[in-house]
Amino acid sequence: MIIVTGATGVLNGATVDHLLARVPPSRIGVSVRDPARAEHLAARGVRVRQGSYDDPEALRHSFEGAEQVLLVSSNDVTADVVAQHRTAIDAAVQAGAGRILYTSAHGAGVDTPYPPLAIHAATEQHLAEADVAWTALRNGFYGDLGQLLGLWQETGVIAKPADGPFSWIDRRDAAEAAAVILTGESPVDGPVDMTLASPVTLADIAAAASALTGRRIDRVVVDDEEWVASEVAHGMPEAVARFTLSMFRATRSGHFAGTDPALSELLGREPRSVADQLADHVAGSARARG
Ligand SMILES: NC(=O)c1ccc[n+]([C@@H]2O[C@H](COP(=O)([O-])OP(=O)(O)OC[C@H]3O[C@@H](n4cnc5c(N)ncnc54)[C@H](OP(=O)(O)O)[C@@H]3O)[C@@H](O)[C@H]2O)c1
Repeated sequence: MIIVTGATGVLNGATVDHLLARVPPSRIGVSVRDPARAEHLAARGVRVRQGSYDDPEALRHSFEGAEQVLLVSSNDVTADVVAQHRTAIDAAVQAGAGRILYTSAHGAGVDTPYPPLAIHAATEQHLAEADVAWTALRNGFYGDLGQLLGLWQETGVIAKPADGPFSWIDRRDAAEAAAVILTGESPVDGPVDMTLASPVTLADIAAAASALTGRRIDRVVVDDEEWVASEVAHGMPEAVARFTLSMFRATRSGHFAGTDPALSELLGREPRSVADQLADHVAGSARARG
């Protein structure tokens, strides 16, 4: 069986949807914190068992019969997430899984100011030291473009701290690629970078936004501390503002400039570009306005 954690989340939930299009539901299981939120999967014939990274015994039960286990990276900000990941890896090994896959991040490593990358690096190290085959799906940045870019549709300006090149991928592509790997004939070993063909900067995104809307959208670089102060004044907790700033700082060194053809090869097409994603984002904003 292929067992997926985080199946009630966005990324691995979409991966399960892609798995259902590729293999019979009897080959798929999910390990979720709240089975009531996975009733739609049980109804389709997927095995649903309760599991949390804080409960090794429940994890082992939910991983029973696994050939492969896909582990989501925890987003529990109150927890020691590396310890949680180690617990999940150890439970998968003890349950006899033949391969563990983990949703890591492009640029995983300790040499950047962006804290999640060290968490992913420590998790990958534990995988490398475990007695099991493993794959780290090093996804590029993804998420809500509105959060990344701010109120540009109203203001005509993307006003953010200085940045450098990075891959902003569509989370749906990352999910599809994970399902391709999980159901593929040849395993993928170790880290695999899921990136765009070319990295982008916020200036590139402003240019794409201008082309899409026919309006001039300017990229304005804001001083780091002025940006933090402005976000805090608009209600963002300072810790969140500084965390976001650390991401911009990490991009400046070129840490995320590298690309890899893996994502397009796995998908059999180009990943959705930033322009494609902007078009979806603008359409979504228009629908929300009614
Ligand atoms: N590459 C990037 O730019 C990027 C961006 C955002 C997030 N991420 C990372 O990628 C992960 C997946 O992203 P997403 O978009 O799918 O986020 P999401 O929708 O918030 O899903 C996170 C999943 O992690 C599960 N989870 C959290 N703590 C857990 C625990 N202690 N035990 C078991 N499961 C736990 C959650 O379970 P419940 O459904 O029960 O809440 C949820 O299903 C995130 O958790 C985060 O680590 C990466």
